[in-house]
Amino acid sequence: MIDRIYRSTVLGVAGRKPIEQLVRTRAWGVAQRFVAGEESSTAIAAVQELAQDGILGNLDLLGEFVSSPETANTFAEQVLALQTQAAAAGIRPYVSVKLSSVGQGQTVEGADLGLTNARRIVGQAKRLGGFVCLDMEDHPRVDQTLEQFRVLVNEFGHDTVGTVLQSYLYRSEADRASLDDLQPNLRIVKGAYLEPASVAMPDKADVDASYRRLVYAHLKAGNYTNVASHDESIIQDVKHFVLAHGIPKTQFEFQMLYGIRRDLQRELAQQGYTVRAYIPYGRDWYAYFSRRIAERPANVMFVLRGMLKG
Ligand code: FDA
Repeated sequence: MIDRIYRSTVLGVAGRKPIEQLVRTRAWGVAQRFVAGEESSTAIAAVQELAQDGILGNLDLLGEFVSSPETANTFAEQVLALQTQAAAAGIRPYVSVKLSSVGQGQTVEGADLGLTNARRIVGQAKRLGGFVCLDMEDHPRVDQTLEQFRVLVNEFGHDTVGTVLQSYLYRSEADRASLDDLQPNLRIVKGAYLEPASVAMPDKADVDASYRRLVYAHLKAGNYTNVASHDESIIQDVKHFVLAHGIPKTQFEFQMLYGIRRDLQRELAQQGYTVRAYIPYGRDWYAYFSRRIAERPANVMFVLRGMLKG
């Protein structure tokens, strides 16, 4: 409950325009702990740097809730260019995309623009041997994201496109089971948005318990599972679970965010687990950065100290 109050306070304050302006102008230095620069070239350099520790990358061009078709199309073009650039640098193009950034919810020529653009991006990933994960956003988008995910898996296969389930949502266990026929590649996260108690569990202990249930059920169903968390007790439990159930290391990976628990990322990679860091970059870093601050009280002090230093 305290976690929820903290999160809603931070995200509420962060949503005010004057605060956004202040943080945007003063906190870029601090934000770079979580964001790998503004350009795709710096993000690709971050992938290459992580590779030295045996850690894979998942590139994310920052941007969300785009309201015009032109902006959504420009965004999609940038993701396509990113995939090409990664492949040219000898990196498997593994990207994350928020459907709201490429036009989800906007109808153009009778079709949802988000799906049209996602098709282009996933289609290119297929040609390049890459992978696209559809990030999960706030709860009103879940139905449409899962529907569009189903369409894309049917067209391009589960080796090319995956999506995310959030353990804080009451609905996620039913959603997971409903996707089983696709043998989907799923990333399991706790959930980062400010959601009402009518749809999301307010208590962290419940969110954590739901997280374990989702991961275990997905692994037991024989599906590829991305265990996306920095929670050490969950990571330990997953390691024990896979041993106890004879689940091979090739059926799952650990995923963490750029700039968070690099020590743990390195340690897991050294132990022979597949580890992938989510690497966000781009000019539109504010919303992503706010969610990272809202996850951990100590981060507010980190930001304030950074802003005072200038
Ligand atoms: P928890 O919040 O319990 O934190 C466990 C420990 O991790 C903390 O004690 C601390 O040590 C460390 N930690 C966590 N957050 C930190 C932070 N911001 N700064 C410093 N340390 C921190 N969400 C979503 O809604 N949709 C999505 O698509 C995604 N995608 C995604 C991809 C990947 C690869 C990851 C790792 C996470 C996401 N998330 C997400 C975010 C996710 O929902 C969640 O908010 C964060 O991962 C934090 O939750 P943890 O599981 O780490 O546990």
